[in-house]
Amino acid sequence: MSQKEQTLKLIISHSKEYGFVFPSSEIYDGISAFYDYGPFGVELKNNIKKYWWQSMVQFRLDVVGLDSAIFMHPKIWKASGHVDAFNDPLIDNKDSKKRYRADELIENYIRKINLKIEKEIKKASKRFGSDFDRDKFHKTSPRINNYLSEIKDISNKMNSFLNNEEFKKVKDLIYDLNIVCPVSGTCNWTDVRQFNLMFGTKVGSVSDEASNLFLRPETAQGIFVNFLNVQKSARMKIPFGIAQIGKAFRNEIIARQFIFRMREFEQMEMQFFVEPGSEIKWFEYWKKERLNWYKSLGISDSNLKYHDHEKLAHYANAATDIEFKFPFGFKELEGIHSRTDFDLSSHANETNKKIQYFDPKSSTNYTPYVVETSIGLDRMFLAVLCESYREDNNGKEKRVYLKIPPVLSPFKVAILPLVKKDNLPEKAKELYHTLIKDFNCYYEEKDSIGKRYRRQDAIGTPFCVTIDHETLENNTVTIRDRDTMSQERINMEDLNNIIKKKLSFNC
Ligand code: GAP
Repeated sequence: MSQKEQTLKLIISHSKEYGFVFPSSEIYDGISAFYDYGPFGVELKNNIKKYWWQSMVQFRLDVVGLDSAIFMHPKIWKASGHVDAFNDPLIDNKDSKKRYRADELIENYIRKINLKIEKEIKKASKRFGSDFDRDKFHKTSPRINNYLSEIKDISNKMNSFLNNEEFKKVKDLIYDLNIVCPVSGTCNWTDVRQFNLMFGTKVGSVSDEASNLFLRPETAQGIFVNFLNVQKSARMKIPFGIAQIGKAFRNEIIARQFIFRMREFEQMEMQFFVEPGSEIKWFEYWKKERLNWYKSLGISDSNLKYHDHEKLAHYANAATDIEFKFPFGFKELEGIHSRTDFDLSSHANETNKKIQYFDPKSSTNYTPYVVETSIGLDRMFLAVLCESYREDNNGKEKRVYLKIPPVLSPFKVAILPLVKKDNLPEKAKELYHTLIKDFNCYYEEKDSIGKRYRRQDAIGTPFCVTIDHETLENNTVTIRDRDTMSQERINMEDLNNIIKKKLSFNC
């Protein structure tokens, strides 16, 4: 097992052991790609939502919120293009009976060529030592150039075949590249078929066409169909945005990598409505704004990057992803898309209703253009865990701690009586009831103080406050810092301010 796979495994088992994430329906042997959030996970998840909602809605004058229903009129999904085009190309291996996304099989093949390039670079860097110029070598090595043109050729073919729905050619490409099933090791593939990712269900007791519904595959359409309701009721003037957080459902063909790709997940989306012609300016604005949001949480620069789309969806005129370096590589965490007037116009056509904005500045009516920011809450949760997971082997025993930004930590402070007697629990509970009004606190009196510190480290509590015999004499306590493990004796009255300072909002 590679180091990276090992890291993901550690994070998954830590999440389960410490009450962050459990496989759903586990006592029935689980159900693939569904997960439950435990007592500490739900706190972290709620804190991420709160941080996003505050920075995207409450701290801004130009964005308002919405909470639309999961079930929507089925024609919405026809207008949005999801009925006809929200498909993945799937292929089965006849021997292992395993199902794959055809594009992912090819992309994995490309990833292997990229690994060969990295290997070449590593070898050369060893050979040339401090004189090694990575960029120059990358540009001039004939072997690397061959690999790069192979990648380009495969990508071009794959994109063109998929765009033109030439699935026979996609299958041939898989054969030509001799891509085998990772389980059976054979090339015995079925044809490539389109698979719609929407979950269907029925509403009501009459089984006619109208009662067939879909579980929403994105929250965005709830925003589009409410554009006029929100604009008029909140008296918003363009440019303005509508944000919402909510569940989305996709019948992913293969769901792997823990909570990265789930069948039921949450999105935090914002549609920003702008005057036609100004959308690229706003697209650039939101690109920067959203990257800074991650940085405000202390996520390191080297773990974040933009991936600008060269190939655009038919409704978009600019698109980028913000990618995070997960243990399995850089992957999409958030999409930022300039969606033109596609969605509002489609809903206007489908309903025969006018969905336009009257601009008092120019005294004209127009269909606004839209810039969308869309982040997966569960992916952000995983990114926070990956960024904060630490193993410290310096002391006598291994310490595992989560260096979660204090503003997101499930609990801000743990209040711990040194021993379970001598009136210390009573004094500690008194402090708990004072601090809980301002911060989410944790109270624990079981086990030795050392064990309790370790447990708080493992769930990412930034401060532990210990009540000891001296507290009874002079109202002082010790405060221990999760990251440095340093302890300081302070007056109990100063606690509130010290903790508050650490929790300040950066964005
Ligand atoms: N409204 C635009 C939209 O839904 P998307 O790129 O399909 O765009 C947006 O999804 C974000 O939702 C992604 O960047 C990702 O973070 C998250 N997401 C998408 N599919 C997901 C899945 N199966 N499991 C977890 N998160 C997912």
